[in-house]
Amino acid sequence: MNKNFKRTTVTTALPYANGPVHIGHLAGVYVPADIYVRYLRLKGQEVLFIGGSDEHGVPITIRARKEGCTPQDVVDRYHNLIKKSFEEFGISFDVYSRTTSDTHHHLASDFFKTLYEKGEFIEKTSQQYYDEEAKTFLADRYITGECPHCHAEGAYGDQCEKCGSTLSPTDLINPKSTISGSKPVMKETKHWYLPLDKHESWLRQWILEDHKEWRPNVYGQCKSWLDVGLQPRAVSRDLDWGIPVPVEGAEGKVLYVWFDAPIGYISNTKELLPDSWEKWWKDPETRLVHFIGKDNIVFHCIVFPAMLKAEGSYILPDNVPSNEFLNLEDDKISTSRNWAVWLHEYLVDFPGKQDVLRYVLTANAPETKDNNFTWKDFQARNNNELVAVFGNFINRAIVLTHKYFDGKVPALGQLSEYDQATIQEFVDVKKTLEEYLDVFRFRDAQKEAMNLARIGNKYLADTEPWKLAKTDMNRVATIMNISLQIAANLAIAFDPFLPFSAAKLRNMLNIDSFTWESLGSTDLLAEGHALQAAELLFEKIEDSAIDAQIQRLLDTKKANEQAAWQPQAAKEDIQFEDFTKLDIRIGTILEAKPVPKTSKLMQLLVDTGLDKRTIVSGVSESFKPEDMIGKQVPVLINLKPRSFRGIESHGMILYPSDAEGKYLLMSPEREVRPGTVLA
Ligand code: MF3
Ligand code: ZN
Repeated sequence: MNKNFKRTTVTTALPYANGPVHIGHLAGVYVPADIYVRYLRLKGQEVLFIGGSDEHGVPITIRARKEGCTPQDVVDRYHNLIKKSFEEFGISFDVYSRTTSDTHHHLASDFFKTLYEKGEFIEKTSQQYYDEEAKTFLADRYITGECPHCHAEGAYGDQCEKCGSTLSPTDLINPKSTISGSKPVMKETKHWYLPLDKHESWLRQWILEDHKEWRPNVYGQCKSWLDVGLQPRAVSRDLDWGIPVPVEGAEGKVLYVWFDAPIGYISNTKELLPDSWEKWWKDPETRLVHFIGKDNIVFHCIVFPAMLKAEGSYILPDNVPSNEFLNLEDDKISTSRNWAVWLHEYLVDFPGKQDVLRYVLTANAPETKDNNFTWKDFQARNNNELVAVFGNFINRAIVLTHKYFDGKVPALGQLSEYDQATIQEFVDVKKTLEEYLDVFRFRDAQKEAMNLARIGNKYLADTEPWKLAKTDMNRVATIMNISLQIAANLAIAFDPFLPFSAAKLRNMLNIDSFTWESLGSTDLLAEGHALQAAELLFEKIEDSAIDAQIQRLLDTKKANEQAAWQPQAAKEDIQFEDFTKLDIRIGTILEAKPVPKTSKLMQLLVDTGLDKRTIVSGVSESFKPEDMIGKQVPVLINLKPRSFRGIESHGMILYPSDAEGKYLLMSPEREVRPGTVLA
C-alpha cells in the first residue's frame, strides 16, 4: 500500500446460486467487505462495492436434474433469495447482479475471444468419459462407481464422500453415468487451457516480493502453490449450461465456471455504469480489493490475475483479504447436511436483529484461524455487550437528558479531572480504528468501538448524575453533555459495523449524518440541540429463544444420523462349535483411567469372576472414567492378549455404538455375579 490510490473497487466472491446463504458466507466475506466499504464511504472516499450471484457450474445442473426443473429455474430462485438476504442484512452493494445476465455473457465471451486471438491459450485433447445414451460428456460429478480405496458404492468421479479421498473419474470401479445409468465410454475431447506455468515468474515477483503485506494465510497458500509449480488449467468444459466457447469447433462446450465468474465482477460494474465502468477496472490509480473465503484464494490470487494480465488492459488486485472458515457449534457448516444458520430463517426467528448477528460474526470473525459460532455465545454477546454496555449507556444518556434538560443538550461547565481523563481516553479512537480498518482487522476494530461504549457506561456509572440532580444541576449538565458527545461518537464508530443501530442512534440524537473526520471530538452536538425520544437499541435475548435454536440443530443432527444409518452387512454363517469357542462373560469394571497421550484409549481393571485383569478399550471419547466404574459389561475373556501403547490388554469389552460412532454401555437388567457366562 505504498501507492496513492484515487478510488477503490471492492468485490465480494459471487455465491453459487444453488442454495440460500448462511452465517458462514456473512462472516467470511460479506460483513467484513461491507464494514470496509462503509468505512471508506464515511471517509468520503470514492468506492464501488460489487456483488452478484455465480450462476453457472455443474452443481446447479445437478440440482436442476434432481428437482426436475431447468438450471435457469434454480438460479432464478436462489439469486432472488440471496439478493434479498444481503439487502436485509444491510450489505450495501452498489450493484448485485448475476452471471446469467446478457452483459456478462457478452463480456465474458469477448474476454475469452481476446485471449484466444492473442494466442494466450493452448489447446489440448484428452480422453474423457462420455455417455452414449445421453450423448453427452460427463462432468466428474455425473459419474459414480465403487471407491478404489474404501470400496463404498456411490463414490463420485471427483471424490468419495465415505472415505473423503480425492478421485479422478478413471479411478472408479464400475463407473456409471448418473444421467442414463449406462456405462460411460472414453472419448476424445478438445479443450482450451490457460498456461499458468508461463505466468509463474511474474506471479512470483508480484505476490511473493511485492505483496508481503497480504494476510499470512493468503500469502502462505500462494507461496505453496507457486513452490509446487503451476500447470496449465482448462478453461472450458463439455457441458450444456454456461457461456458457449466463442470459437469455431467448440459446439457443446462452455466456459469453465471459474473462468467466467470472476469476470462477473467486471460485468456487474459495467451493468451499473455502462459509460464509466472502465475507470474502476483499468485505471492504475484504482485500488482493487477482493473479499473471499479461503477456498477461493488460488482463483483470485493466481488464476484471475493471470487472466487479467493476459488480457492486458486491466489492473490487478492490490489486496485479497481472505478469511478462514466459521464452524457452527463445533461442526463444519454444511449445506448438504443442513448444518447452518440460514439468513432468511434467522430473520424469521430474530426479526430486526440483523445488527446482533453482524456484531457477533465480527466479534468471532475467522480472520486468522477457523472460528466457532455458538448460540450461547451469541446470546452472551447480545446480553452482556450490546444490551448491558452499548444499549444501556445510550438509553441512560438520552433518557436522563429528557428528564433533566427537556431533551436539549445542556451546557458544558467546568471539567473535573475525571471528565478530562475520560475525554482523554477516547481522543485517539479515530486513529486506532483506522489502524485496524486499513489492514482489514475488523474484529479488533469493533472491539475498539465497543471500548468507547464501555468508557461511556463507566463514566455514567461513576459520576451518578441521578444522585446529583437535587444538589448540583450545573455538574449534571456537564456530565450529560459529555455523555451525549460520547453517544454521538458511538454513532460514528459503529456506523460501519452496525448500520441499523447507528442509524437509530443518529435518529435519537436528531442528526442526519456525521463525518468520519469528526470522530474523537467532544463538540459533535451543540448546546441547546434538541434530541428525539429514546428508543431501545438492543433487547435481551431470553434462554427460550436460544434453546429453540439449539434444539433445532440437535434435531438436524438426529435426522442426519437416521438418514446416514445403514445396518452392517450380515457376516457369513458359522457353526455352533465356532460360537462355543467364544468365552463371553459379565465383568465388573473396578477402575478406569485414560491412557496418557492418547485421545481414545482407556485402561480398565475388570473383575471377571476368575481374576482381576487389565483391558484396554478405545472408548475415551465416549465415556468419562466415572461413567464406567462400577458398571457391569460383557467381556470376551479368551481373546489372546494384545498390547496397546505398551499396556497388555487381556480380553475385550463389547459395546454398541450410536450412528455417530459414540459408544454406549450395555449392562444386564440387574446386577449378576461377575463371571456369569453369556449363552
Ligand atoms: N461461487 C464461488 C464460491 O462460492 C465463488 C466465485 S467468486 C468469483 O466458491 F470470483 F468467481 F466470482
Ligand atoms: Zn472411499
